[in-house]
Amino acid sequence: MRALSRSARSKGESVAFVPTMGALHAGHVSLFERARATHDRVAASVFVNPLQFGPREDFTRYPRPVARDNRLSRAAGVDWLFRPSARTLYPPGSTTRVVPGPLASRYEGAVRPGHFTGVLTVVLKLLQIVEPDTLILGRKDAQQAALVGSMMRDLDVPARLVVAPTVRERDGLALSSRNAYLSAQERVRAAGLHRALAAGRAAARAGARDARRIESAVRVTLKLISRPDAIDYVALVDPSTFEPVRRLRSRALLAAAIRLGRTRIIDNVTVSPR
Ligand code: PAJ
Repeated sequence: MRALSRSARSKGESVAFVPTMGALHAGHVSLFERARATHDRVAASVFVNPLQFGPREDFTRYPRPVARDNRLSRAAGVDWLFRPSARTLYPPGSTTRVVPGPLASRYEGAVRPGHFTGVLTVVLKLLQIVEPDTLILGRKDAQQAALVGSMMRDLDVPARLVVAPTVRERDGLALSSRNAYLSAQERVRAAGLHRALAAGRAAARAGARDARRIESAVRVTLKLISRPDAIDYVALVDPSTFEPVRRLRSRALLAAAIRLGRTRIIDNVTVSPR
């Protein structure tokens, strides 16, 4: 993988890299297309990273449709699909980890301890292997993108980060490989997450500035139309630092995570004071 990338870059070609865990959908494909449109070479990876799954999470049942992923990535213009084994990335004795900053223990990290250590460790390894000019991530996982951005700055990774918009189903549900776990009834309730975030955004448009009011508009709508089994968090945060915002003064991110049965879904929208 590194030889391919180095050889392209030594000829003056630009390389974009899109890491994934496979079970590719139109959200992943939009990242490949973004990479294709802006770079000479597109590298992507498929690796279900054991390090970022908790002991009671879905590592073993995570979908792995290999032939379909190969087909979709090729059709979207991926030049190199890197599919390392766990033994290749984590041979026996590989014990070094990336320690993320304090943001990693909030929101997603509060519910999934150790998750972001696993994400940052694998993303740093992949960046060292691929050596791209640009790393492309999706805004759907905004906290992940913020933490990866901090890591790249803090550890002097010589690549640029691009965060691309969320691709949604017609009813607003953000595409996710985990949507496949939802029952028909949960799938209907899942669409309520985006509608509830939109209700928070509407409250801000109508003049709400207090984060608690905006967040409560989200919670009220969520309970009404998603009837979630749990609301893990609803939070108005700074888009780059993810620090909580008390009053809406500039563009912020409204993020939420809920549980429907055994499945967790997350989403976020941007909110502006008009
Ligand atoms: P995965 O969930 O497969 O997502 C791979 C990339 O696709 C991430 O950058 C994610 O934000 C983006 N993505 C997912 N759904 C999207 C959607 N609906 N619209 C746009 N982009 C979307 O995120 C991971 O894998 C892993 O944590 C990884 C970064 C690969 C490290 O293991």
